[in-house]
Amino acid sequence: MYSTLSIDPSVFYFGTPVALLTTGKASDAVANITPISSAWALDDTYVLGLSNLSHAMSNLRENGELVINLPDAPLWESVERIAKTTGATKVPPLKQERYRYEPNKWALGGFTPRPSEAVAPPRIAQCPVQIEARVTNMTPLGATGDATTVHAKVLRTHVHRCLAMPGTSHINLEAWNPMYYTFRHYFSQGERVGVNFRAEW
Ligand SMILES: Cc1cc2nc3c(=O)[nH]c(=O)nc-3n(C[C@H](O)[C@H](O)[C@H](O)COP(=O)(O)O)c2cc1C
Repeated sequence: MYSTLSIDPSVFYFGTPVALLTTGKASDAVANITPISSAWALDDTYVLGLSNLSHAMSNLRENGELVINLPDAPLWESVERIAKTTGATKVPPLKQERYRYEPNKWALGGFTPRPSEAVAPPRIAQCPVQIEARVTNMTPLGATGDATTVHAKVLRTHVHRCLAMPGTSHINLEAWNPMYYTFRHYFSQGERVGVNFRAEW
């Protein structure tokens, strides 16, 4: 038995995978890239938690197409290079102290666009998993209304060849090394400690 202490954390980021959302308006010359970690899937729907101040949210309200790109852990420095930026030309007052406008996060992070097949925003070639998706629902999140829960249905999934298991749609778990965001630190995945009774391989 453990004894416990009551604590008051300022954030509850106990560790979730990092995703890089690519979004854009039809008029944009360059698609935007938004690092997030509030993302999880149930069946073929992703649930994303997005600040209403993000340019991603503005793009998704106009054009509900996106790619959920999943970086692996060694890409953390590229993610951190774009972390202090926003694709919003007018940086919201609440973000001005820490963030600046960046029109081309691709160049800044060293990312390469690759055309998508089912949606307009491009995929990020360096990310080993790229999930094309379309928004199906948006719900205000929290009492202050400053964030939104976005539901996005998966349309198509691409993986680097080294992650694919030939003849199946399974991911090679020996090769998959997702990046986790834990209390604003980047982590890679630890060792496998067990397997669920529903695992298929
Ligand atoms: C690793 C990481 C995870 C983040 N997770 C989220 C998140 O889940 N939701 C969110 O709204 N912002 C998140 N942020 C902050 C946004 O990336 C940040 O507000 C950024 O300026 C948004 O870019 P945009 O305005 O161009 O969309 C995260 C940032 C980093 C670096």
